[in-house]
Amino acid sequence: MSKDILCLGIESSCDETSVAVVKNGREVLSNVIATQIDIHKKYGGVVPEIASRNHVENITYVVKEALEKASVSIDEIDAICPTYGPGLVGALLVGLSTAKALAYASKKPLVGVHHIEGHIAANYITHKDLKPPYLCLVVSGGHSHLVHVKDYTDFEILGRTRDDAVGEAFDKVARVLGLGYPGGPVIDKRAKNGNPHVYNLPRTYFENLDFSFSGIKTAVLNLANKEKENLNIDDLCASFEEAVTEMLTTNVLKAVKQIGVNKIAIAGGVSANSYLRERMKKIGEENGLEVYYPELVLCTDNAAMIAAAGYNNFMAGKISELNLNAVPNLKIGD
Ligand code: KG4
Ligand code: ZN
Repeated sequence: MSKDILCLGIESSCDETSVAVVKNGREVLSNVIATQIDIHKKYGGVVPEIASRNHVENITYVVKEALEKASVSIDEIDAICPTYGPGLVGALLVGLSTAKALAYASKKPLVGVHHIEGHIAANYITHKDLKPPYLCLVVSGGHSHLVHVKDYTDFEILGRTRDDAVGEAFDKVARVLGLGYPGGPVIDKRAKNGNPHVYNLPRTYFENLDFSFSGIKTAVLNLANKEKENLNIDDLCASFEEAVTEMLTTNVLKAVKQIGVNKIAIAGGVSANSYLRERMKKIGEENGLEVYYPELVLCTDNAAMIAAAGYNNFMAGKISELNLNAVPNLKIGD
């Protein structure tokens, strides 16, 4: 039997400081997440400089706790896998510098991880049997991509948003409606009591598989200004989710036909959305497709998913140099 591979994942691209130990890319031994959401809440969104400073304050404690919880020492780790992009540059640099220092001091390989590849890899932890090829809908606060996952480290982007990311649209709509930050979880909750057919919001489609969410965001803003206190927030949240989910699932089905796969996964913070999960399951059943989504804690930012993607890079021989730099707008496959 081959030796187990332990990867230390380090994530600091936005407002979560997270460190995890994952065995063979699939089994979580620890996944410590120090969230800064409460700090950023009062500003209505993430303040980059504050995020960086909090990462600096937290990171060494989070590394220590992740190793302790996994009951391993740094000597037992096979690869140190930090997110190096995309994300907020100052925030990324904290996790990346920590990883470089650990790799240098412990003489372990450094394996840089693309944050979105991490979100995709969250599915390997939840679904031990999931293997490429498949289609992945990545929907997070900063990205909305349709990705053909051809192999563990081979990705092709089939469609992307031309303006706002889906999560960004959730956050902006919540802000306009006075629901606070982050917007996704609260809209998810309010929509459960609403009627999705009350407000007819615009859907945007293109010839190809791209998305656009700025039109629907502006439509909600205009409605809020026009209707003021007559607005039914629950109905609007449900109508917004209905429209967004319809745009996402329409392109998912188009993409499945285009590339001829029978498996679809969803990933990223918005994949925690209960209505999207329910609808994806339904279109899977209707179209004979297997549908995968990560358990809730692995949908939003965490280091276990980064360690899982790091494992795939490590096994493919994709080792980074110690002069690896943070790349705020890193493209998939770079
Ligand atoms: O993946 P993530 O943690 O960070 C990025 O990489 O961007 O995603 C955060 C996004 C936020 O926009 C948040 O509002 C959204 O995920 N989100 C949700 C839900 N939970 C988090 N959106 C819809 N429904 C949810 N339940
Ligand atoms: Zn993310």
